[in-house]
Amino acid sequence: MKHLLKLGDLTGEQIIDILNLADQLKYEQKHGIAHKHLEGQTLGMIFQKSSTRTRVSFETGMYQLGGNALFLSSRDLQIGRGEPVQDTARVLSRYLNGIMIRTFAQQEVDDLAKYGSIPIINGLTDYCHPCQVLADLMTVREHKGSLSGLKMCFIGDGNNVANSLIVGGIKTGMRVAVATPTGFEPNADVMAWAQKSGQFTHTNDALTAAAGADVIFTDVWASMGQEEAAVQRRKAFEGVYQVNDAVMAAANPGCMVQHCLPAHREEEITEKVFEAHAEEIFDEAENRLHAQKAVMVKLMGK
Ligand code: CP
Ligand code: NVA
Repeated sequence: MKHLLKLGDLTGEQIIDILNLADQLKYEQKHGIAHKHLEGQTLGMIFQKSSTRTRVSFETGMYQLGGNALFLSSRDLQIGRGEPVQDTARVLSRYLNGIMIRTFAQQEVDDLAKYGSIPIINGLTDYCHPCQVLADLMTVREHKGSLSGLKMCFIGDGNNVANSLIVGGIKTGMRVAVATPTGFEPNADVMAWAQKSGQFTHTNDALTAAAGADVIFTDVWASMGQEEAAVQRRKAFEGVYQVNDAVMAAANPGCMVQHCLPAHREEEITEKVFEAHAEEIFDEAENRLHAQKAVMVKLMGK
């Protein structure tokens, strides 16, 4: 494993390996056991979009591993003024030991990996959010004991988070059911791959997707970069693609709820369901730290 560009590049075993290391690093951090695997190393963190969790968890994680992290806003970098990604990749490879990037086009992340010579980590693109889903799988496994054989449900927009959940869920042996409005399906290549697995269903009906689920995921109706379409999107989703009491009643008893955050209460999830599952949702947010530390140790560790 040289980079983390998307979960589709990893095998199920590699994903489980990352989760095992994440569990270990979490244990060590909670028990004050030093784990400075990246002493003297520097991670550059390029952000073309806002972030709370990704920024703070990568920066803190790097510090806990004995290294440093640099916050690089694209507003301040020459890349924001048009310096080609090929040149940026080659320059940054001379200074840094790894790059985490959050941007719009997946191509930009792939190009950094192609032209640079250090590990590249995808911190969210329009296409996928692999770091989020590693934390999600870690959290589900923590609460349920294992992943294989569980039913994962996603209700809402077929966006970056949905794409990664489908791939990560199927690769770790889960059945995945997704409900989206027509016109808001997950990416076609992800759907085609998932359909071949025999473990995937897509429907327009939230209750059908939720039936017998062990964990239900949702995410915002309008992602970063889609702000102008938010009103029109709301019309397509409102009242139907929401994690609420009816959806929870269709799921298995003890069904978990996960949300990558930030959440829009009373849009994709009701306040009531959110607060009833807050402990699981904030475990999920915490696990970003541990899962990403594991990714960095795997990619950058000696
Ligand atoms: N879930 C997530 O990636 O959060 P941020 O946008 O705050 O990083
Ligand atoms: N789908 C959301 C996830 C935010 C973490 C977005 O891309 O804005």
